[in-house]
Amino acid sequence: MKDLLNQLTIKEKIGQLLQIAPFFFIKDLKIEVAGPVEELNLNEEKIFNAGSVLGIGSAEEMMDVQEKYLKRSRIKIPLIFMADIIHGYKTIFPVPIAMASSFNPKLAEICARVSAIEASTAGIHVTFSPMADLSRDPRWGRVVEGFGEDPYLIGEMVKGMVKGYIGTGINHPGNLASCVKHFAGYGASEAGRDYNTVDLSRLSLYSQYLPAYKKALEAGSRLVMTSFNTIDGVPSTVNKFLLRDVLREKWEFTGVTISDYDSLKQIMAHGVAKDMEEVAYKGITGGLDIEMASSAYSNHLEKLISDGYVDIQLLDEAVLRVLELKRDCGLFEDPYKGASTKLAEELVLSAEHKLASLEVAHESMVLLKNDGVLPLSKTSKIALIGPYASSRATIGPWSWHGRRDLHETLEEVLKEQLVFCKNDVLITNYTDSDFEKIAFADVVILALGESEECSGEAHSKSNIVLPNKQDLLLKMVEKYGKKTVTLLFNGRPLLLQGLLSTNALLECWFLGSQSALSIKEVLYGKINPSGKLPMSFPRSIGQIPLYYNHLNTGRPYKGPNDHNVFVSKYLDVENKPLFPFGYGLSYSNFEYSLIKLDKSIMLDNETIEAKITVLNNSDIAGYETVELYIKDHFAMISRPVLELKQFKKIWFEPNECKEVSFIITKEDLVYINSDGNNVLEPGTFTLFIGKSSDQTISEHFEYVIKK
Ligand code: NOJ
Repeated sequence: MKDLLNQLTIKEKIGQLLQIAPFFFIKDLKIEVAGPVEELNLNEEKIFNAGSVLGIGSAEEMMDVQEKYLKRSRIKIPLIFMADIIHGYKTIFPVPIAMASSFNPKLAEICARVSAIEASTAGIHVTFSPMADLSRDPRWGRVVEGFGEDPYLIGEMVKGMVKGYIGTGINHPGNLASCVKHFAGYGASEAGRDYNTVDLSRLSLYSQYLPAYKKALEAGSRLVMTSFNTIDGVPSTVNKFLLRDVLREKWEFTGVTISDYDSLKQIMAHGVAKDMEEVAYKGITGGLDIEMASSAYSNHLEKLISDGYVDIQLLDEAVLRVLELKRDCGLFEDPYKGASTKLAEELVLSAEHKLASLEVAHESMVLLKNDGVLPLSKTSKIALIGPYASSRATIGPWSWHGRRDLHETLEEVLKEQLVFCKNDVLITNYTDSDFEKIAFADVVILALGESEECSGEAHSKSNIVLPNKQDLLLKMVEKYGKKTVTLLFNGRPLLLQGLLSTNALLECWFLGSQSALSIKEVLYGKINPSGKLPMSFPRSIGQIPLYYNHLNTGRPYKGPNDHNVFVSKYLDVENKPLFPFGYGLSYSNFEYSLIKLDKSIMLDNETIEAKITVLNNSDIAGYETVELYIKDHFAMISRPVLELKQFKKIWFEPNECKEVSFIITKEDLVYINSDGNNVLEPGTFTLFIGKSSDQTISEHFEYVIKK
């Protein structure tokens, strides 16, 4: 690649660092001059030197752009096409927060595999996924795109995604390169407001926020997208500490860094650059390779280099990384790699892909309450009401190519059992005659939630109550003495106190193309729900940020019998969430024995085996996720009260009893300190195994380092 690099003019080199949208190439440029082209101040020469494209609709479009580009290009380096394939291309899978609820990284891999097979037929080579941002704030709209609040769970899901995208290798057709995002700490936006300031201690950054990005890189992500926020006052996009010290030095990352949309230019709004020339200077010296949708490099880098402010070496290094990515994606052999209308017709939305989406959806729902009303009897007469009764808007945000018109609604899949259906959110729109019809039903299913537009990028909320007082619908139905099943469609944890009186509460999130069918199969018990919450559900907004792996504090509150005044608690709400991390019910009844450890002292060259017996004390087969947490009692720094270290999702036949074994290694006892280094200290540890972060069996052991 170095030979190729040496053949490029400086303008051609700089072009490789520019990413623009496809309409720059395919529409009549004169038409576009009044719009984005003018804004970016790019002339035709610069446009046709660009190195990559953001977003593309189809194989035809991709081939058209590539052909036009290569015809005009002197050096004929193909464009590389990147896009947001987040939870499926056209076959849409559950949103990431839902997939995280499955506690099954294999399913993330399946989602990513199908996404890669489908999206690559449109000539897409790189997906801007996975999002490895940890968040403890459900007000942040983008929690829907992430895997929750726990670094270990996020890391495992992210690894599954990357593995699925890459498949047999990014050089083969049918696979995608992955760009992990948003580096770093984007999920810690203050007060959950998108794009807001992030103020993280080095300890939180290293120990909670950074590990999942690192896991994505270890799994093979070839690109890193910077985040919109600042870290220590410096925008991530030009943050040397993040991009050079952590990424390149500490983690030895050799792939490509890319800004988020316009985030390089936005460093002016952050107030760390006065003009576009300084923007370009800070970008290239800070460690940013590609700039997405801004033109600081294209318009200013050449002069900065010729005037001696920027060493050309920095440009060369960045361009080389881009060329290597193109080479590794096989674009020099075939610039149209993957793009095929014929393949798209064969593969996209195939029966096999729909089945995969259905299977992922089955495991992504979380049963929050069930007093026995579920599973439903086949003969029960059903009334179905609420804003999602016959809505098709249930595939979730970030599904650009998803076809809402192609999938079924709840009303359609439940039609044989329905005595009444009304798709309305406002209680005032339900008439007496509606309630008379509801009275004929044995069970009322309420399909409630927040619309798809309530979460996602730039869709944060200060209030996370169920909109439009939907719980009043429940209250009204309860007056008729009906059994109720409440289904929730949402992209973030909500405040659910108003729904606690329902007989069953099923968190569906947004389940993708097979949403309705998957829900029906859970309602009727064909599928036994097995999801667990990847984020805590608060009782009140004032508890946020709320997360299970918090520190103990010097004055911990010990529970309802603790009458001490001067302890860490609220006067008006308890400390605990309404539904904790790791919580989720099943139609089975799983019982846990005591833990057996093979030793009570672990020496530094040893492991410990922890065994627990889990009994499915029911006649219903199902999955149980057995969660293992650890607490480190004394260390140089205060350690969390509990940390998820391992989990196993296991199938149980009716009444089956299984011994579940975990091997605890030193890696499970290590913590990351505020210098980003791994530390292992001897001392007492407690192991917790259970069905949720708040329902565990515990056992202690000592870790001893022999002198
Ligand atoms: C902005 C979003 O923050 C990012 O996640 C996405 O990949 C880019 N836009 C490109 O669409």
